Amino acid sequence: MEWTREKRYLPYNQWSAEKLLDLQAKAANSPAQMHYHLHPISGLVNDPNGFSYFNGEYHLFYQSYPFGAVHGLKSWWHFKSSDLVHWENLGLAVKPDCKADSHGAYSGSAMQIGDRLFLMYTGNHRDENWIRTPYQIGAWMDKNGNVSDKHVLFEKPANITEHFRDPQIIKKNGHYYAILGAQDQAEKHGHIDVWKSDNLTDWHELGFLHFTDQTMGYMIECPNIVNVDGKAVAIFCPQGLDQQVANYRNIYPNMYVIADQADFEKTQLINPGKLHNLDEGFDVYASQAFNAPDGKAYVISWVGLPDTTYPTDNEEWANCLSQVKELSIKDGKLLQQPVSSIKSLRGQEEQTNSQLIKEKTNGQYELAMTIKAGQNGKLYLAASDDLSQNVTLSFDTAKGSLTLDRSHNAQSVSEKYGQTRSILLKQDADLKLDIFVDHSLIEVFVNDGEHVLTGRFFNDPDKQKICFDHKIDYTGQFWKMKTIL
Ligand code: FRU
Repeated sequence: MEWTREKRYLPYNQWSAEKLLDLQAKAANSPAQMHYHLHPISGLVNDPNGFSYFNGEYHLFYQSYPFGAVHGLKSWWHFKSSDLVHWENLGLAVKPDCKADSHGAYSGSAMQIGDRLFLMYTGNHRDENWIRTPYQIGAWMDKNGNVSDKHVLFEKPANITEHFRDPQIIKKNGHYYAILGAQDQAEKHGHIDVWKSDNLTDWHELGFLHFTDQTMGYMIECPNIVNVDGKAVAIFCPQGLDQQVANYRNIYPNMYVIADQADFEKTQLINPGKLHNLDEGFDVYASQAFNAPDGKAYVISWVGLPDTTYPTDNEEWANCLSQVKELSIKDGKLLQQPVSSIKSLRGQEEQTNSQLIKEKTNGQYELAMTIKAGQNGKLYLAASDDLSQNVTLSFDTAKGSLTLDRSHNAQSVSEKYGQTRSILLKQDADLKLDIFVDHSLIEVFVNDGEHVLTGRFFNDPDKQKICFDHKIDYTGQFWKMKTIL
């Protein structure tokens, strides 16, 4: 089937129920499907949206195109959870059903205001000549999950191009602010644009946020600012960023900056640090963070990249979300750690210290280990008996390095951007790994969250051996993880 423009933007009610059921079955029955990470019910998912705490529960939406593995007419799909691990599927929430979001209910955020959840997102509108107008839209969701009262909050100012989207609403000192990704008309560079309102109805622009003297590529997508242990952390996706400015290898990076504070009135981050990759693996993008009422900062990522095809496209579904990661700052470094309730998914604990860890798994597990200093070797995961097919973690705890390698997968992804991702670690130190595998997804937390390497991998489903390449001095624990999704 050819994905013509017409087909991608066909109204949802013109798709048949049979087609949708067929797509749902394909997504559910795929051997590559995740079973404890949020994934498509059908079709394609991308950015997490509206990550918030409302009416005593966590709420999360994702960008969804339910009718295939393409970026078609987008909507928001809704989930809620009491522990950030077990999610209840609440279905389609924000539909592209008005003029302002006629070509997609694009990304945005949410915040409880009074007894309702305020949703703020970008409506993607195109006219008959395919000229795009982005509208920033407000809507209200009640406790029963009904979304109503969609209304345009503001349009783009003259100095910004059609690339103006992904508002994050923030409340500070009794005022509402929104930060958005923007491209300026004059130079076509990426920016974070700051807006203000005191009543959620009247909004005015304060201007571009100053946090670097460097050019942030041609567009910034999905900006977020959260408080983490008294600092302001800005998380954003600069597209077309010069690799001299910050080192990254994916098609587009998901970066962060730690600053002392965000001063929205003066449109600046105070004392901002350098740009860092939020994730050092292959596929993290459009991460969304928020501060829960207890002050904790959480982030969840799209595991997938724009302009990238994945092997499950052939099965008409694509992508997933990461697990929720809790943010903290230690010695000036951002740490990302699994939330403690992820432990509730663990089965029986099995201790391991041998070269062969598992002859075979069911593809769904957590493996935690401490590899003693002064060694180097390879840990094979999702491997065939002869080890020719695998996902490899190569480590050197003498020189201090770790590499995630997906070059020996059955099907490759984005070969052009390299099949390995490496990080530097402290020399002659023990290495702590907390590895989560969910069929075609791997998340590696390094040294209590100092680094995270996330990636998709596509091996034959029966390739499930875990072992080292030679005898290694380490201690480890293995848990099978429960199916919850
Ligand atoms: C990022 C993004 C956003 C946009 C959304 C559309 O992946 O391009 O900028 O709002 O996806 O689905």
